[in-house]
Amino acid sequence: MNLEGKFAMVTGGTRHRPGDHQGAARRRFRCADRRSERDGLNAARGDDSRILTVVADLANPDDRVRLIEQLTSGRPLDILVNNAGSMTRIDIHNPNAESLMEHDVALDLAAPVHLSIDLLPVLWQRPEAAIVNVSTGLIYAPLAFNPGYSTAKAGLHAFTRSLRRQTRSDSIHVLEVFPPIVYTELTRNHGGPKIGVEAVGAAVVKALVHNRNELRIGRAKFLYSMSRIVPNVIFSMINRATEKRALIT
Ligand SMILES: NC(=O)c1ccc[n+]([C@@H]2O[C@H](COP(=O)([O-])OP(=O)(O)OC[C@H]3O[C@@H](n4cnc5c(N)ncnc54)[C@H](OP(=O)(O)O)[C@@H]3O)[C@@H](O)[C@H]2O)c1
Repeated sequence: MNLEGKFAMVTGGTRHRPGDHQGAARRRFRCADRRSERDGLNAARGDDSRILTVVADLANPDDRVRLIEQLTSGRPLDILVNNAGSMTRIDIHNPNAESLMEHDVALDLAAPVHLSIDLLPVLWQRPEAAIVNVSTGLIYAPLAFNPGYSTAKAGLHAFTRSLRRQTRSDSIHVLEVFPPIVYTELTRNHGGPKIGVEAVGAAVVKALVHNRNELRIGRAKFLYSMSRIVPNVIFSMINRATEKRALIT
């Protein structure tokens, strides 16, 4: 894919300025996030005219419809990056477990499915277009304390494969990204080695240029291989480590 001059919509893109990612120079973005007041959207935009911002709570279907309407009536869109996500710690014994699960599933699964399907007609108008779904290595070994996240991302993986298969003769390329633990707000309380967002951004750009279907980065490769060989061992291993951390904190 030639990324020169392409226009991308990145959901949940404001905590890290997309324009700062290595390889992002001369590319144009629109970001959608929940909050405008915080340093979020405004900081992401700064005085960079290449970045347009939209406020939308993507867990809410009405907000998603509003966003889709803006994208269908506005300037051409070449790339949709379904990146916004939340990873809530949920004890299923608690009475509010179901609503917390629903929220994670709405944001991490229903939103990318909704945006991808409804924006297909916009992407079809472009000579080459892409949908990038940000998944996780945890689809290979779910974290029991994050059941909403793990369930949603496993569903996103299945949806992404179906989408790719059904659009294989279209001009749309479908890329699924499996990051390892990245240094962001989401992993603020997680231990272990983390990589920077810039490294993930650069790898995604390269994967798009080379029309890759799946991009596993760093330890996500390890999770993938181990889940093929000893799935129960790797599932117990990562869950034991998280449970031990939960007892300490
Ligand atoms: N960090 C990791 O180690 C890691 C590993 C594997 C996969 N991933 C995936 O990478 C993606 C990005 O994660 P991250 O680490 O950058 O998370 P993050 O630091 O928590 O950022 C999440 C982003 O999503 C936005 N967001 C949250 N709820 C939203 C909502 N209801 N509507 C619209 N936007 C919303 C946030 O906007 P506000 O600032 O407005 O809340 C923020 O920009 C996620 O899909 C995650 O699953 C991350």
